[in-house]
Formats: sequence, C-alpha cells, structure tokens
Amino acid sequence: MPETASLTLPDGRTIELPVIVGSENEHAIDISRLRGETGYITIDDGFMNTGSCKSEITFIDGEKGVLRYRGYPVEDLAKNCSFVETAQLLIWGELPTPEARRDFSDLLTENSALPEDFRRHFTAFPVHAHPMSIMSAMINALQSYDLPGLIIDDEEEFERVSGALMSKVRTIAAAAYKSSIGEPIMYPRYDLRYVENFLHMMFSKPYRDYVPSAEATAALNLFFLLHADHEQNCSTSTVRMVASGQANMYASVAAGVCALWGRLHGGANQAVMEMLSFIQSSGMSVKDYVAKVKDRAEGIRLMGFGHRVYRAFDPRAVLLKDACDKLLNAMHIDDPRLEIAKQLEEAALSDDYFVSRKLYPNVDFYSGIILTALGIPVEMFTVLFAIGRVPGWIAHWKEIYDVPSTKIYRPRQVYTGSVRREWLNRFQREKGYTDSRGFKVPEELRPTQAPQADAVPPTN
Ligand SMILES: CC(C)(COP(=O)(O)OP(=O)(O)OC[C@H]1O[C@@H](n2cnc3c(N)ncnc32)[C@H](O)[C@@H]1OP(=O)(O)O)[C@@H](O)C(=O)NCCC(=O)NCCS
Repeated sequence: MPETASLTLPDGRTIELPVIVGSENEHAIDISRLRGETGYITIDDGFMNTGSCKSEITFIDGEKGVLRYRGYPVEDLAKNCSFVETAQLLIWGELPTPEARRDFSDLLTENSALPEDFRRHFTAFPVHAHPMSIMSAMINALQSYDLPGLIIDDEEEFERVSGALMSKVRTIAAAAYKSSIGEPIMYPRYDLRYVENFLHMMFSKPYRDYVPSAEATAALNLFFLLHADHEQNCSTSTVRMVASGQANMYASVAAGVCALWGRLHGGANQAVMEMLSFIQSSGMSVKDYVAKVKDRAEGIRLMGFGHRVYRAFDPRAVLLKDACDKLLNAMHIDDPRLEIAKQLEEAALSDDYFVSRKLYPNVDFYSGIILTALGIPVEMFTVLFAIGRVPGWIAHWKEIYDVPSTKIYRPRQVYTGSVRREWLNRFQREKGYTDSRGFKVPEELRPTQAPQADAVPPTN
C-alpha cells in the first residue's frame, strides 16, 4: 500500500497526497495534484523544503556531511580519480572504461582551441572587465560558432558538444585572464592533460613555458573535482530552469555562470580571501573580528561559513583543508592568511553563536588559500569554480532532456500587490480624482468632462 500524507484544509476538506521515497530513503510529499484539486498552492521562501525535481546525479545528506556523485563517496573519487573521469561519471552515470577515457580525452584535446575570430571578442571587453562577465558572455557566444541543434537527441552529438564546452570553458577562462592583464592569449597545447593545459594557458608566455609542479596539478584537480556537482544549488537550479524551456546547452550553462557569480554562492571564495586579507592588513585580532560578526550591526558574515544543506560539516572543506596543508608545505609557502583561517575556524567552532546555528566551514573557506598558492588571482576564483561545475551543469541539462515528463519550470506565487484598480487619465491622477478603492476628491475639483486620454501624449 503506497504511503500517503493527508492534508486538512481550513474549510475542512482533506486531501490524500502521495509520499515519494528516494533511493536513500528521503521522504517527500508529492503535491502535484494539490492546486488542481483544492485551489491551494504551497509557499516556501528560498525553497528550504521544496524538491524541484527527482534526480539521479548527486546525493547529499547535510546532517551527516555526506556527498556522493552517482553513488560514489566524494572522498573515494578525490583519492582515486581525475576531474575528467569524475566529469564522465557525472554526465554519463558510470566511471569511464579506459577506452571511453581515451576517447573523451582526445575529444577534449581536439576541442580545446577557440575559433580564431572568436578570440577577437576578448579584445572588445574593457581591460578591467570581471572575468566572470567575460566568461558568461563568451560561453553564450559559443552557440553562434558551434550551432548544435537546439535539442540534441543524438548521443554522439551530445558527447561532442559536452566535450567542446568542457574544453573550451577552460580556454575561455584563461583567455579572459590574459586579456585582463594585457598579455597575449595562449593557445592550448595538444600534449598536456586537462589541468596542466589550463595552468599552461594561464601562466605561460609566448617566450616562456610554465611547467606546473605535480602538487599544483593535483591540488587544482581536487579543487575542480570537489566543485563538479552539488545537486540543486542556486546555479544548477538556474541551469535546469533555463533548460526546462528547451534552451540550448551553451545558453543554459552561461546562465549558470551568472547565477554562480553572487557572493552568497560561488563568489564566496573571493569574499573569504578578501576577509582574510582584511584581517591581516588591519591588524585586527581574530577574536575581535568574530565579535564583529556576532554583533551583526555591520551586517558582516563570516565568509566561508554556513551552508543551506550541510548542518554537520562540509566534506569538501575537510578534503580541501588537508590538501591546503600539503600544498603549502610542498611549495614552502608561509601564508599568514592560512594561520588566520585556522584561528577563525577554531574560534567559530567553539563559539555558541556558530555552534547553535550549525555554521561550519564550507568549501570556499580553504579553497581560496589553495588558489592563491597556485598564483590564481582573486578575481579568477569564481571562474575556476565555474570550470569545475560545468560537468555537473551538463549532467543536469541532460537529465532535463532525458526525462520525457519534464515540464517547463514555472513556479506559482502568492500575490501581495494592489487589488484591481481603475485606470485614471493623467488629469484625474493629478487632481487626486477617485478610484475604485474609495479615495474621493470634492465634487468641485472634478472635471466636468474628463479627457479620455492624456492631453499631452507621453514621449516615451
Ligand atoms: C551559505 C548561506 C547563504 C546559507 O544561508 P541560509 O541557509 O539561508 O542561512 P541563513 O542566512 O538563514 O542563516 C541562519 C542564521 O545563521 C546566521 N548566519 C548564517 N551564515 C552566517 C555566517 N557566515 N556568518 C555569521 N552568521 C551567519 C544568520 O545570520 C542567521 O542567524 P539568525 O537565525 O539569528 O538570523 C549563509 O550561511 C552565508 O551567507 N554564508 C556566508 C557566505 C558563504 O560562505 N557562502 C558559500 C556557500 S557554499
């Protein structure tokens, strides 16, 4: 007998609503018949309790600090897989065979360069344009050069477009950076793998090759892998929403980049570094900074802390903290901001304000220090987050298309604006003439013959 939940409405009617159980035993009440049968909708600001879809891609148990891609714990993937293999897992549901891995790697290599006339767009942005603005615009522009069908129903074409997007996104990111510092845009190299190739395009110069260390490559590989998907977060939900209207993959992913930009989402890693640099340069003690956060008068938050879903710990932060220590040791970097970060963590984790609100370090807390050690400038942090998230966005875009019952995303609302009003011409509005809500003006002030239209037509 399927489980149901019964809801009693204010007028005494009762409706039985089916309960859906996910593969990890999460329970949800299916309200899809609610409005049709009762006229009621549900409301849930920020979607705190609302599942927007069923998905097979990523599982999170925020209470226990669990994150799994297609069933694999992220800790196992971090230890054993590359970012590209993880991307294949997310997009196609299985870890690749050696042959599939080789083929996809070739596809990435073949698609790493940008069309020559496309490269010219980079010079059209102002020198100090934010790389996220360049990145979102250029991903959207790719559609004009590639023109995949609006609906990709052929598996081979889907693989080609996915590979092209994953590969070109990294080239676009590096090109955005090079343009912003006035250096020549580097071409990708055919002999380098995904992460090395990106670092090459970021830091090589036409007259000098940059050779990343194994530790740097491993740290960036981990960073990308840990950002590869995170179920229905703000940017992924945006991608799914845009895709639900049947927008093409490039447009949907470009929308995801825009959504990621905000400081409460992907922009937080930049905000963390700015916070740590501020504490360092101002000479303020960690204790005083924490007190300022708790005081809330200035509206500042401890950036890199707190998460809508994780209420115990963010497993990505645990892995990144460890990677951060290893990288800084291997590179012999002594960054005082790492010490400040550790002190902040310690102070917050023993403070009732943070403990009672279940605020723990999130993925952005240590990632900024890793990226700084790799020489990545702060404005590029969110861009790197976006590179990592692209496979997840592609997987969700595909899921929207693969599930035939997907409907266009179109939430309802509870309207709280003005009720129906009577249209008044400008003369009546100026005289404060009555409207149907009962605001009356004295008889003598009313026009004997109200003009039917504005005497002077508006000019715009
Ligand atoms: C991630 C985040 C947006 C989640 O927000 P949320 O689930 O909507 O939680 P809320 O904003 O409702 O916060 C709940 C409470 O904790 C407090 N809080 C949340 N994050 C906080 C932070 N980083 N520092 C200080 N207080 C914080 C809020 O002020 C609120 O307190 P109150 O209940 O007394 O009013 C939020 O924790 C945040 O702004 N973090 C900092 C930005 C960040 O690191 N983002 C990256 C996310 S991966």
